[in-house]
Amino acid sequence: MTMRLSRRVSRVSLSANAAAKATATALREAGQDIIDLTTGEPDFDTPEHIKQAAYAAIESGQTKYTPTPGIRALRLAVQQKLAQENGLPYQLSAICIANGAKQVIFNAFAATLDPGDEVLLPAPYWPTFPDSVRFNEGTPVFIESSLAQGCKLTAERLEAFITANTRWLVLNSPGNPSGAIYDQAELESLASVLRRFPNVLILLDELYEHIRFDDQPPIGLLNVAPDLIERTLVVGGVSKTYAMTGWRVGFGAGPETLINAMSVVQSQSTSGASSIGQAAALAAFQGGLAFLPNQVKAYRARRDLLVNVLSAVDGLEVLVPQGGFFVFVCCRGLLGRYCPDGRLVTSDSDVVEYLLEAGVAGVAGNAYGLSPWVRFSIATATHDVEEASKRIANACAALTRSSV
Ligand SMILES: Cc1ncc(COP(=O)(O)O)c(C=O)c1O
Repeated sequence: MTMRLSRRVSRVSLSANAAAKATATALREAGQDIIDLTTGEPDFDTPEHIKQAAYAAIESGQTKYTPTPGIRALRLAVQQKLAQENGLPYQLSAICIANGAKQVIFNAFAATLDPGDEVLLPAPYWPTFPDSVRFNEGTPVFIESSLAQGCKLTAERLEAFITANTRWLVLNSPGNPSGAIYDQAELESLASVLRRFPNVLILLDELYEHIRFDDQPPIGLLNVAPDLIERTLVVGGVSKTYAMTGWRVGFGAGPETLINAMSVVQSQSTSGASSIGQAAALAAFQGGLAFLPNQVKAYRARRDLLVNVLSAVDGLEVLVPQGGFFVFVCCRGLLGRYCPDGRLVTSDSDVVEYLLEAGVAGVAGNAYGLSPWVRFSIATATHDVEEASKRIANACAALTRSSV
């Protein structure tokens, strides 16, 4: 029998990132020496006090269904975090918990999009954004940026892409894959455009907010434009900051009507997030961030290492990431060159394939809506980043301008 699948599911695909990782893993399992720089999760373990809270939750019988918008204690902790760290005042009813930030985003699109609704996605973007939009009947509209713009959306570009059908603008800062962080002036100019289009909702994905390499105090869109809070959904979580990707806990804060509708969506898909995951996330928020500076220091050292080596490679242009744990590299200069076996390099996929043969796995920029670029993760052991940077440099140097 041929299985007939829904139109909805045929609009989306498994993430390119997962595919790149699967290829790297398969090659490693087959005995090849591959350094995997595809990973989108911290190489650090979840801090011990968080694990202990999870064990305690199990022991004390916190093993039952939870309320769909999340356990009250965790929502209170998120409310407090948003007030203290981000200077954002939210009622408890404006906060929801879900199975990761990914589900918060999915719920938001499911709750608001109808066919024809457009979602503005500055490119490069995290690939789930367009697929989540498509799955929920909306139309992703891509706004490409460039190295010269630091891979950031500008006010002029934003204005040029807003139409009567625009429902959402998605802003992800620090960005995956770019590592770009919007500064105060950039946020102010985006806000001044958004004020003129009051029907546009704003999704702020701040999942990487604590992983930043400058010493500036963090500033978000709602700090420079508090008046936009009525139509903004702030999305955050514990995955990246607390090395808790597998626990599946994220949060959203936004207008109550939206949060309530998102809860309805969630109540008919997964119900409340795991009781144990939420107990662990509560301990994460309550336990503070004392462990973090060492991790950020390690990410920063790896970033510096990779950026320094790759910046000196003929054919590569590196966007120096200000946060997050990826280094995004433009490889336009390698196109038109020949591999030692005579193959012509014509795209970022070719570059990724060639680097894989040289023992380094990255992800082609086309997965993030910007070509020809490659994303390398620095969420992996420092000695691996060091060895990978040498392999990339050597492989690029072995490309020639004419076939032999
Ligand atoms: C930009 C961005 N937003 C959201 C997520 C999803 O995070 P979570 O693990 O909380 O679902 C990711 C994960 O890679 C991400 O890169």
